[in-house]
Order: sequence, then C-alpha cells, then structure tokens
Amino acid sequence: MPATESAALPWETFTMPEPIPLRDTHHRPLRDLRISVTDRCNFRCVYCMPKEKFGFDHPFLPHNQVLTFEEITRLARIFVSHGVQKIRLTGGEPLVRRDLPVLVGMLSQIPNLDLTMTTNASLLARSARALKDAGLKRVSISLDSLDDAVFKAMNDVDFPVAKVLEGMEAAQKVGLEPIKVNMVVKRGLNESSILPMARFFREKGYILRFIEYMDVGSTNGWRMDDVVSAREIVNIINAELPLEPLDPNYKGEVAERWRYKDGSGEIGVIASVTQPFCRDCNRARLSAEGKLYTCLFAIKGYDLKSMLRAGASDEEISQTIAHLWSRRSDRYSELRSENTINLPKVEMSHIGG
Ligand code: GTP
Ligand code: 5AD
Ligand code: SF4
Ligand code: SF4
Repeated sequence: MPATESAALPWETFTMPEPIPLRDTHHRPLRDLRISVTDRCNFRCVYCMPKEKFGFDHPFLPHNQVLTFEEITRLARIFVSHGVQKIRLTGGEPLVRRDLPVLVGMLSQIPNLDLTMTTNASLLARSARALKDAGLKRVSISLDSLDDAVFKAMNDVDFPVAKVLEGMEAAQKVGLEPIKVNMVVKRGLNESSILPMARFFREKGYILRFIEYMDVGSTNGWRMDDVVSAREIVNIINAELPLEPLDPNYKGEVAERWRYKDGSGEIGVIASVTQPFCRDCNRARLSAEGKLYTCLFAIKGYDLKSMLRAGASDEEISQTIAHLWSRRSDRYSELRSENTINLPKVEMSHIGG
C-alpha cells in the first residue's frame, strides 16, 4: 500500500458521539443562545431604555469589560458542544458594536448553526452585505409603527420609519431571509398601528410578530394595564383579515403562529404575559460583560468572563455551564404576580430580549 493511503485506524472509523444533551430541573434542553454584544443603543425605546433612566451620563460598560470577539467565539463553541443550535446576536443594538461582521465571520465557522440577529435596523443598510458575506443567515427587525409620529414617540430619538424600511430592504436584497419584524404593543401608544402594520407586512411577505409588553428590568414602569394581549391583537386582525392557527415550527418557539386564511402569509404573537411559554424554554443569554443568564427575568447572571480571564480551560467552563443549566428552575412568566413585578431584574438592554 502506498504510504499516502494508510488504512483507517480503528478509532477513525467511529464518528464522534453526539453530546448528551443537558437538561434542567424541568427537563428542558439548552438549544438557543442569545449573545448580547453591547449594552449600548442609539434608540431610547420607552419600554426598554427610557431616557430618564438611560441619559447621557448613564454608566454603560467600559470597553475592557465587554467580551472580545475571541472570548465570545470561544464560549459559543462550548455552548454548541452542549446542544445549542441557534445563536442570536442582540444588544442593546448589536450594530453599534464596531466590526460586527468580523464576529459573524468567526461564529459562522461553527457548523450547523442557525446564526441570526435582532436589530433595530437603523444601521443595517450599510452593513447588510458584509453581514451576509460573513455568514449571517437572517435577521429579526424591531419596528413598532409605520406612523412616524407614533414610532418617534416610541424610539424617543426622533428616528424616522423610512430609515428602518431602508434597512429591511437592504436585508432582503442581500438575502438575510426570512425577515421577521418584531412589534412591541403598548396600550395607549401604538394599538392603532396593529392593522396598518399587518396589512403592510402581509404585502411585503415578511413575518410580523406582535410582542406583549413585558415587565423586563426595573426601569420601564410596567403596568398590566399597558399590556395589549395577544388574544386582543389576533381579534383585531382577524376581524379584517381572517386568520387560522398554525402549528409551531419547532418545540420551544416563542411565537404562536397564525396564517391569513387567503394564503397570503403569516403572523406571530408572543404572549409572554398572558400565555407564558416557560414550559419549553430552552434559551440561555450571555450578556455583553460575559454573564450567563438562564432567564430573561433573572436577578443575577453567572460571571463566565472572570473564568475566561483567570485562565480557565474549555473543560472547566464547559462543566460550569453544565452545572448551571442542570440546576436551572426558572419559569418567571408562569409565576408573575403583583409580588414579582417590582423585584430587581436585569435590564433588557443588557441581555437583548
Ligand atoms: P425565531 O428564531 O425566528 O423563532 O425567533 P425568536 O422568537 O427566538 O427570537 P426573537 O429574538 O425575535 O424573539 C422575539 C421576542 O420575544 C424577544 O424580543 C422577546 O421580547 C421575546 N422573547 C424571546 N425569548 C423569550 C423568552 O425566553 N422569554 C420571554 N418571556 N420572552 C422572550
Ligand atoms: N417588552 C417586550 N418586548 C421588548 N423588547 C424590548 N423591551 C421589551 C419589553 N419591555 C423587544 C424589542 C426588540 C427585542 C430586542 O426586545 O422590541 O424586538
Ligand atoms: Fe434599543 Fe432595541 Fe431597546 Fe429599542 S428595544 S432601546 S432599539 S435595544
Ligand atoms: Fe424562559 Fe424565563 Fe422567558 Fe420563562 S420567563 S420563557 S423561563 S426566559
């Protein structure tokens, strides 16, 4: 046999065994990792980063406290070895982080990953091509109204609708699809935008998802009275554009899916307040400063950055993640009550929704 054609060694004939999936105390696997790449944002949405609490002098994380791209990628690989199949980049606003396509390029080297991003699209037009080329698969874009006055009242930085639509067009042009649009509905602010948004995005062929306003963090002054329920939203749309329910795409999907009866597309409703979905929650969140949160409403995160910077091995970090997940019992939305609303909680802009 020529030297270059050696027979396979016995262990080379076996493929690597699949990792044994982690399970938490409610038997939920770890499938979805949301990575916040910055706690900064160029918007001041009233339900997320109200201006009074996030002013010019707000103490955002100093740059040396934010995970580097190398640190993020190293952690991402360890999470994937524990069963993570989807990574979503979030913020604050992820595109205010410089050179984001470089990080996307590093993460896209990880095989079989659904690599996606949630963005306000304000800076998307100029980077859509670079993101796509670097390996980003798709984007979800936040937009709360098509009416400039309403949208500006919600983003609170006078940002026009047209620029967000430009970002969406750019995403579509380069193939960052399917594009999903996230609309947070807050009573008294944008209920009147529900139908115009539904009509517009049905025409466009984008999947519009309505999100119930949530009591994330402790700065947005949340009140139950401000929540427009998913049921109400479906009823409003159904009255003009008849809908029928659709099965979930995958176990643990947060959006309840509905399709237009005439076959012209679908919408989703994310009813975290009125119909909690903790039972199948398989999401972990990594903050920009490298803390692991096992719930959107957690009080504390586990400091993985300190481990990284103290020289821990991949194996040690992997075991820590396994330990934390196996002890996870979070189900905040199922337990939400008058008594939980005022608990201290991490801000949405820290862990990106
Ligand atoms: P797909 O990957 O397209 O299915 O999207 P997704 O639903 O995982 O992602 P996205 O970030 O667009 O979720 C939309 C919104 O749903 C978020 O911005 C949050 O407001 C809310 N949400 C997502 N995950 C959770 C969760 O685990 N708990 C709660 N309470 N809300 C969540
Ligand atoms: N309730 C519901 N959704 C929220 N988001 C931010 N804050 C809230 C809240 N209090 C959503 C944004 C965006 C995503 C990052 O999270 O609209 O789509
Ligand atoms: Fe920024 Fe998104 Fe929060 Fe609005 S919801 S302030 S765009 S992070
Ligand atoms: Fe998951 Fe916490 Fe949201 Fe429940 S409240 S679905 S446990 S992130």
